[in-house]
Amino acid sequence: MIRRLRKYDQALIESHFNSLDDEALYSRFGTHVPSQGLQNYLSDILADAAFIFGAFPDSCLRGVGELRLIPDHRHHVAEAAFTVEKAWQDQGIGDALLSRLITIAQNRGIREVHMLCLATNQKMRRLAAKHDAELTLVPGQVEATLTTPWPTPFSMAKEFTSEYRAFARAVLSWPNQAPTSQVAQD
Ligand SMILES: CC(C)(COP(=O)(O)OP(=O)(O)OC[C@H]1O[C@@H](n2cnc3c(N)ncnc32)[C@H](O)[C@@H]1OP(=O)(O)O)[C@@H](O)C(=O)NCCC(=O)NCCS
Repeated sequence: MIRRLRKYDQALIESHFNSLDDEALYSRFGTHVPSQGLQNYLSDILADAAFIFGAFPDSCLRGVGELRLIPDHRHHVAEAAFTVEKAWQDQGIGDALLSRLITIAQNRGIREVHMLCLATNQKMRRLAAKHDAELTLVPGQVEATLTTPWPTPFSMAKEFTSEYRAFARAVLSWPNQAPTSQVAQD
């Protein structure tokens, strides 16, 4: 299950990022992030116009996909980034998050989605290639560029039904989905 994360999910998001090891954080940000820097990043993660989505394969937050508009590109270009907890990798969660972000971008007229990862990040490179991204090597890193199609009634319906279904599931499985219950479990 994938749904958009909101202010009330802040504790879940922090718990997810704080559960990642140094290697995963290095892969995500492309550099070593000091603990305080990570906390600062997390405190603002939902503050701007970003689209932050979470994957809940077992009713706990296990993966996060972020889509942010790149300033000065007339809202036509965005950047995407992903994190999936190690025990949940290689099960299609990254792919599902990327697919959702592509639909979100498509429906908002965002024409390009960029993803930056370390050149050694084979999983991310594989994901980008599966979605026909154009790969460009920059020193030590790979920039993947996805061209998104124009919105269609089908893409609009897809976004609406996915979000509606996720909301309905969250309501039906309450209180297991309540933010505090996962933090307590972890
Ligand atoms: C990158 C990341 C988000 C991928 O998430 P994921 O849930 O494992 O992704 P998926 O399972 O959907 O897809 C992984 C793909 O890589 C493939 N893969 C795994 N190991 C691989 C390797 N060594 N070489 C090539 N491909 C590999 C998998 O087989 C799968 O492809 P497939 O679906 O065709 O079989 C996750 O590894 C992660 O959180 N890494 C740390 C943070 C990071 O690097 N973020 C990216 C930078 S923003």
